[in-house]
Amino acid sequence: MAGKLMHAVQYSKYGGGAAALKHVELPIPTPKNDEVLIKLEATALNPFDWKIQNGKTRPILPKKFPFIPAFDVAGEVVDIGPGVKNFKVGDKVVALLRNADGGGLAEYAVAKDVMTVARPPEVSAAEAAGLLIAGLTAHMALTQSAGLELDGSGKQANILVTAASGGVGLYAVQLAKLANAHVTATCGARNIELVKRLGADEVLDYKTPDGAALKSPSGKKYDAVIHCATGIPWSTFEPNLSANGKVIDLSPGPRAFLTYAIKKVTLSKKQLVPLLLSPNSESRIVISYLVNLVKEGKLTTVIDSKHPLSNAEDAWAKSIDGHATGKIIVEP
Ligand SMILES: NC(=O)c1ccc[n+]([C@@H]2O[C@H](COP(=O)([O-])OP(=O)(O)OC[C@H]3O[C@@H](n4cnc5c(N)ncnc54)[C@H](OP(=O)(O)O)[C@@H]3O)[C@@H](O)[C@H]2O)c1
Repeated sequence: MAGKLMHAVQYSKYGGGAAALKHVELPIPTPKNDEVLIKLEATALNPFDWKIQNGKTRPILPKKFPFIPAFDVAGEVVDIGPGVKNFKVGDKVVALLRNADGGGLAEYAVAKDVMTVARPPEVSAAEAAGLLIAGLTAHMALTQSAGLELDGSGKQANILVTAASGGVGLYAVQLAKLANAHVTATCGARNIELVKRLGADEVLDYKTPDGAALKSPSGKKYDAVIHCATGIPWSTFEPNLSANGKVIDLSPGPRAFLTYAIKKVTLSKKQLVPLLLSPNSESRIVISYLVNLVKEGKLTTVIDSKHPLSNAEDAWAKSIDGHATGKIIVEP
């Protein structure tokens, strides 16, 4: 591939939204010792992508400009570094790209072999790409933060998932049901049937008074809230939590960190837990597990929309808009 060019989409400074994305021709990257080169078939977007562009992770990310955004990719291995033992040219894979590198909005990307997982033919590239940041986050929130056992062997818990129609929320609802939890969910009226079909026991329209109050129709008190929405204060959660209930906040701002600190120092049994996904060597095992659940028909990736790379701006704007149902996919 050395010397050949590929189409890619990048931005060169903070801010600017979809209008700041630029289409460029760049050399196809060469895999280093422990990397695979993937011809991309699908890339899933996450709010994280445009939050980086907005400067939310400044000065850590992006490491440098111009930056090719997006991390969740699936495709076919077309070249491997000399140290790669687990993959060969022609393998279908799904991979989580490094935060520092990005690279998902392109025709080709290099991924670390430890963050790459084989993709069986039953799982489409789009279904697999959707699983990465969103699926890993839902899995981490439910298992590590909320303490659920996804094989159903743990104790029965009452779980609330806010913004259950979003990328993370739809996986969280389904995974919580695998853990035998009672699941209450919030979403907009148009997605109530979908969220019920994917397993939620009760669903609240967040625009109604009961929905805004997060009140379980059956009177359940929540052992854990997988909080995928934003802008809901602790005072709304507090009366709905069980004695040891936790709010796992996926988008913690300064107020959430203050609440977290106050609950800690006052030894409150009800806690706020800020969550930040930090992929590590365990992540590959979880990605494999999630891919296998999709293969077995136990987990569904809901696709909001698919957009060609040539029109990545539409996908980007849709993600910023915040009203996707499931995952937004870009296809080269
Ligand atoms: N900490 C981490 O490591 C981590 C990892 C992944 C994601 N996150 C964060 O988690 C959040 C969710 O991510 P995502 O990918 O799931 O987002 P998303 O797919 O963009 O979520 C969109 C969905 O949220 C629904 N929604 C918005 N506000 C709502 C509310 N107040 N109540 C109920 N539903 C609401 C929308 O429904 P309507 O269209 O009906 O309004 C839409 O279906 C984001 O802030 C993201 O940055 C954090």
